Amino acid sequence: MSEDIWHAVDDFLDSLHPADRVLGEIRAGIRAGDLPDISVSFEQGRLLTVLAKAVTARTILEIGTLGGYSAVCLARALPSDGRLISLEIDASRGRFAERNLTTAGLSELVTVVVGPALETLPGIETQHPGGFDLIFIDADKETYPDYWRWSLRLAHPGTLIVADNVVRNGAVVNLDDHDPMVEGVREYLKLATTEPTVLTSVMQTVGAKGYDGLSVSIVVR
Ligand code: SAH
Ligand code: DHB
Ligand code: MG
Repeated sequence: MSEDIWHAVDDFLDSLHPADRVLGEIRAGIRAGDLPDISVSFEQGRLLTVLAKAVTARTILEIGTLGGYSAVCLARALPSDGRLISLEIDASRGRFAERNLTTAGLSELVTVVVGPALETLPGIETQHPGGFDLIFIDADKETYPDYWRWSLRLAHPGTLIVADNVVRNGAVVNLDDHDPMVEGVREYLKLATTEPTVLTSVMQTVGAKGYDGLSVSIVVR
């Protein structure tokens, strides 16, 4: 089994869905703009939409916007009075994402907040005292443990906390691997699996994005 078959199966699955011009153009724009091609895959984006619908999310927080690909997937699940706040450190990426969200017809539902997430989160907490129904963590991996703690602060029973890239091509099991990104996700998994107020499932994933993993936690009390 090689990566080729993972890609082929993702291509096959994508071909089963109706063509999605909005998402196709965002990915093409990311590639054309020399931005890193690290948005979630099409199927992972569908999963985000399904998860947000499953918890009837009205308020969503995303940490790590890039071009707005996953933001579109999340915002599509929102009702017309819903809100997605997406945090992005890079101002030009933030503007690019805003343009893509406008093209997608979702700009009314989404606010991109530019700045290092740890600096913008305190203001987000003040502005959203009710917290969020779904939180998607997909920014700098070394800071995942802090994003986990922030997520618990901004959650309520029923909130779904989803984190991308928690397996890192299997590096997470190699305790000799002290790459700060790997240590960040390893610590995140420890926190998410031992926190008594949540139920967590960690899934290994293969596909167009290679070999990685997705952590899904639901706050139960
Ligand atoms: N969720 C996006 C991909 C995000 S890639 C999607 O799937 O479509 C990760 C993003 O996090 C990058 O754009 C990067 O600039 C941003 N980022 C990195 N460190 C950050 C920080 N400290 N605060 C906010 N955003 C950060
Ligand atoms: C990286 C970040 C991501 O969010 C991702 O999905 C893949 C890779 C990275 O920084 O290496
Ligand atoms: Mg990611």
